[in-house]
Amino acid sequence: MCGIVGYIGPREAGDLLVSGLRRLEYRGYDSAGVAVVNGALDVRKKEGKVDELAKLLDARPVSGTVGVGHTRWATHGPPNDVNAHPHEASDGSFAIIHNGIIENYGAIKKRLIEKGYTFESETDTEVLAHFIEDVQNEADLSFPEAVRQALTQVDGAYGIVGISRDDPDMLVVARNGSPLLLGIGDGEYFIGSDASPFIEYTRNVVYLSDGEMAVVRRDGYKVFQIDGAPVSKEVHALEWDLEEIEKGGYEHFMLKEIMEQPHSVADAMRGRVHPQEGQIRLGGLQKVLPQLVEAERIVICACGTSWHAGLAGEYLIEALARVPVEVEYASEFRYRNPVLTERDVVIVISQSGETADTLAAVRQAQGAGCLAVGLVNAVGSTIARETDAGVYLHAGPEIGVASTKAFTAQVAVLAQIALLLGAERGVLSQDEVRRHAEALAAIPAQIQTVLDGEEQIRRMARDYRYASNFLYLGRGANFPVALEGALKLKEISYIHAEGYPAAEMKHGPIALIDQFMPVVFIATRDATYEKVVSNIEEVAARGGTVIAITDEGNRDLDALAEYVVEVPKTIDALEPLLTVIPLQLLSYHIAVMRGADVDQPRNLAKSVTVE
Ligand code: F6R
Repeated sequence: MCGIVGYIGPREAGDLLVSGLRRLEYRGYDSAGVAVVNGALDVRKKEGKVDELAKLLDARPVSGTVGVGHTRWATHGPPNDVNAHPHEASDGSFAIIHNGIIENYGAIKKRLIEKGYTFESETDTEVLAHFIEDVQNEADLSFPEAVRQALTQVDGAYGIVGISRDDPDMLVVARNGSPLLLGIGDGEYFIGSDASPFIEYTRNVVYLSDGEMAVVRRDGYKVFQIDGAPVSKEVHALEWDLEEIEKGGYEHFMLKEIMEQPHSVADAMRGRVHPQEGQIRLGGLQKVLPQLVEAERIVICACGTSWHAGLAGEYLIEALARVPVEVEYASEFRYRNPVLTERDVVIVISQSGETADTLAAVRQAQGAGCLAVGLVNAVGSTIARETDAGVYLHAGPEIGVASTKAFTAQVAVLAQIALLLGAERGVLSQDEVRRHAEALAAIPAQIQTVLDGEEQIRRMARDYRYASNFLYLGRGANFPVALEGALKLKEISYIHAEGYPAAEMKHGPIALIDQFMPVVFIATRDATYEKVVSNIEEVAARGGTVIAITDEGNRDLDALAEYVVEVPKTIDALEPLLTVIPLQLLSYHIAVMRGADVDQPRNLAKSVTVE
């Protein structure tokens, strides 16, 4: 949540900060602001998207070569100009931007009010700014030292960047729970919540870890721990291209990312799936493979769409490797003192690698002595670094707030883990592994076939765009797809939608069925097909509108459904990789037809780094 950018070097900071904020807007878009030092501190901030800030800057430009910028996803206090970041010291001597939550801000604020401080905003960030100021004034400290000492007394999560009017050639950076990285250019330095604001200027980055600070000056930077101990950091080279994070001719990032799936799923398998040899090779799991193979139980933890992928993973791993699997919401897992033993392996799934609850699940698992394995897309992200081993998704940057290509990459990687474990545990013969690996290898081309049928989905979207409710029903491997289809629709089109296991319909939701309720059935000819057809009959008999996703050549449903969408045939456990595609397209086209902001739906943010 919240995007952070910082710059120090020879260029004018204002434009650079604004273009960086545009790329970070997926992290929050309630308000945006910049502060630049040039003799004095010049702060501009505005409620709304970065465009609003850009208009303000056109009217009242800033000038200076050191500055910070912030795009906000509101936690404390509503989105408005006053609550927008940066927040300044009372005398305007410094400004900070912050991503995260200061949990003890109430107690600190009370103490500061008693000392005579006044507050303009409702944010925890302004409290932190005044707290730093107080610590600085009490002991006549330098700005970085005041930040350091203040942070030792703060509970919560933060990524912070500060600039000082009185020591202008410097950025002060601190991280605890919110991602921050330092871009190292030629005579210039950048700060970002991720690398997108500065990727065209440098590919060399230093990832700050929790509990670390950096002081970045024009001629170099120093990283140290919040207790003051110096830290030596490795410089990493980034692989993602700027073009990869731009729209590439599509109207929305979401559509681009849906259309990229033949490639992103192929990338998630590249060098890993070897059909001819009947082998799966996952380098990132090599060193922990014995522990993984011996696991008595696998617990999968994730949030949102990644949790849905986890459910698909449960089906895959139990079916192909016969290891018991539990799938947990990371937010529940972390607080309910789960029973874990050293024979359990915890797999966490996260596109961003920064989701606060999922990260906490990693730490909880490790604290209980479990191996923690990460399936993460964002390279170098916190979860990727903190897990004991892992598999990168290689889906490329996902910018649209609604997750699409990350989901299919997650399921593709879980299928590979299931096959690897099935082979290693002697559950699958080499021939069975070969057959499944062949099916997996065929998926990218099959996804392309589904995407080629976009026109039918567009027609369907036109017919149902005014519906107020949708039901999504599926069984077995397609139950998680029903949940995911419903989530996609509600988050970007704001239509209420629910996903259920198809057989559960009779236990309640059937009461909702009438001619105004489109019911999307995922009804492929797998082990539970006949049962799902009975459920379709039940809906049709009550005048409900049926949309069926089925496998190609199936004519059984033509008389029962208003639309029958065909996807190519694959093996049962891999069906989610194909059946989810029409549902992603349906939600996309409905949202566009309803005039919704597809890439940045209201109230959401791409990376949820608060609880
Ligand atoms: C929905 C969506 C969210 C994320 C969830 C977890 O489209 O994107 O539900 O899946 O916030 O995020 P990650 O995978 O980054 O941990």
